[in-house]
Amino acid sequence: VAKLYGIGVGPGDPELLTLKAARILSEVLVIAYPAPLEGQGLARTIAEYLIPQGVTEIPLRMEMTLNRQSANAAYDAGADEINRQLRAGNDVAFLCEGDPLLFGSFIYLMERLHGHAEIEIVPGVSSPMAAAAAAHFPLATQDEAVLLIPATHGEAELERLIASVQTACLFKVGRHLEKIRRVLAKLGRLDKAHYVERASQADQKVLSLDEAIEKGGIYFALVLVGS
Ligand SMILES: C[S@@+](CC[C@H](N)C(=O)[O-])C[C@H]1O[C@@H](n2cnc3c(N)ncnc32)[C@H](O)[C@@H]1O
Repeated sequence: VAKLYGIGVGPGDPELLTLKAARILSEVLVIAYPAPLEGQGLARTIAEYLIPQGVTEIPLRMEMTLNRQSANAAYDAGADEINRQLRAGNDVAFLCEGDPLLFGSFIYLMERLHGHAEIEIVPGVSSPMAAAAAAHFPLATQDEAVLLIPATHGEAELERLIASVQTACLFKVGRHLEKIRRVLAKLGRLDKAHYVERASQADQKVLSLDEAIEKGGIYFALVLVGS
């Protein structure tokens, strides 16, 4: 039976890809990955040096916005094509930035291919870990709780969630920095926040929230909030 691998390729630094992921990428004949309408996308870029010549590639092209319709169509078509490869007996590795099961595109594919193939998932170094390492920020000690949330929540909900834990890690912060700033000012935790952009990549940046607002936030950034 052919296998579908969900491969976490880590947060950007190619050295943060696991030995297991590297081994599987050297063995499969088909790779798939999410990609923008043009270009190869971050997951493939990270793993590029490990992709052998001549493998069949299935890019799942979608608008990198909140447009779920474009994404769903890409996952449907991608799942069909991957299914054809699996039925022909070819193992397929789906590349996913960071870890495949944390806000990862592999989740949507797994839902569609569940029951059609044997699935094996290779965990990856996730962006909160890479961001914490970049900022020298302890995520938790002793009895502390950590919360991982998208910054897309409304202001009141964000405030409620962050107030409930010692550490919050906010994803997809790009266009939400002003809202995050208001919430943290209200909670008296503005000076405990670190904006981390492109963690582990050559152009990584660790900034205060005010510095980030002045510069402008990007999609590949997190805000870590301590207490
Ligand atoms: C769709 S989620 C994918 C998360 C990924 N599966 C993981 O395990 O880190 C994309 C969000 O992850 C965060 N992210 C991913 N890579 C990052 C990096 N290298 N530095 C900072 N944030 C990152 C950003 O908040 C971005 O908006």
